[in-house]
Amino acid sequence: MHIPVLKREALEEMGVGKNKNFIDATFGEGGHAKEILEKIKPKGKLLAIEKDDVLYKRGREMNLARLTLYNDSYLNLKEIVEKAGFKKVAGVLFDLGFCTFHLQESKRGFSFQENEPLDMRYSSKGLTAKEIVNYWKKEELEKILKDYGEERYAKRIALEIIKTRKEKEIETTFDLIEIIKRAIPRHRSKINFATRTFQALRIAVNNELKELEKGLSQALDLLEERGKIVVISFHSLEDRIVKNFFKDKKIKSKLIFPTREEIKKNKKARSAKLRSGEKNE
Ligand SMILES: C[S@@+](CC[C@H](N)C(=O)[O-])C[C@H]1O[C@@H](n2cnc3c(N)ncnc32)[C@H](O)[C@@H]1O
Repeated sequence: MHIPVLKREALEEMGVGKNKNFIDATFGEGGHAKEILEKIKPKGKLLAIEKDDVLYKRGREMNLARLTLYNDSYLNLKEIVEKAGFKKVAGVLFDLGFCTFHLQESKRGFSFQENEPLDMRYSSKGLTAKEIVNYWKKEELEKILKDYGEERYAKRIALEIIKTRKEKEIETTFDLIEIIKRAIPRHRSKINFATRTFQALRIAVNNELKELEKGLSQALDLLEERGKIVVISFHSLEDRIVKNFFKDKKIKSKLIFPTREEIKKNKKARSAKLRSGEKNE
């Protein structure tokens, strides 16, 4: 089960309360959504979006009252809101990235602890990680490893991918881990040596950074005056986009970190940051 990160803080920042309407752009396993629905009783409505087909189905099966759930991307936020006949809302929540489900159950290669096919898609459509590692040019691989993984051994890993795939198709997470092991020198690091490559591929497969930029600007137009955008991010690339978005739009914003107690209870909270911005016109 996914433990929602920064739940209390996110709800407080959005001013979640009786009869207000909200958008949860990343429904996931419904952790934040259920709490929002409880607090906006009796008349408040929640519009939620989930890109992953399996999580969307599970969300529907929860039969939550006053929830409208769409199987789509927040890239299409405005269109979805129009379709749902929703008016302006008091807050929009983005809780970025993947859920516990993706690591532990999906069998789509999100985790480097398990030997699974290299898929890494949230939705069942589009390019897979397997296609990227087997067909993209060396320069393109190096670029995503650098830009989306901030991997300093991007060039070496890209070269080793090319070398390996000449012999045999790269199919699974463990195939990729062996490649990374061969490509980089042994070194001590706080994070696993495969983390950056996996992050880079996941971002490229799901077009995560571009979708976030587009989702944020649509969210702003959907807010009531003094409405809030709250974003929980898990790595510096996402956070930079959120920070710059608020800055460019001259939006007053706030940065919140998880408490030590939360981090103790939930490892995923370690890298989390919450930024909230208030619409001021
Ligand atoms: C961190 S989880 C959200 C967890 C949720 N707040 C909870 O408490 O259960 C992020 C979710 O966003 C979904 N997601 C990722 N990109 C998305 C996008 N562009 N549009 C909609 N959902 C997306 C993922 O499939 C994942 O389930």
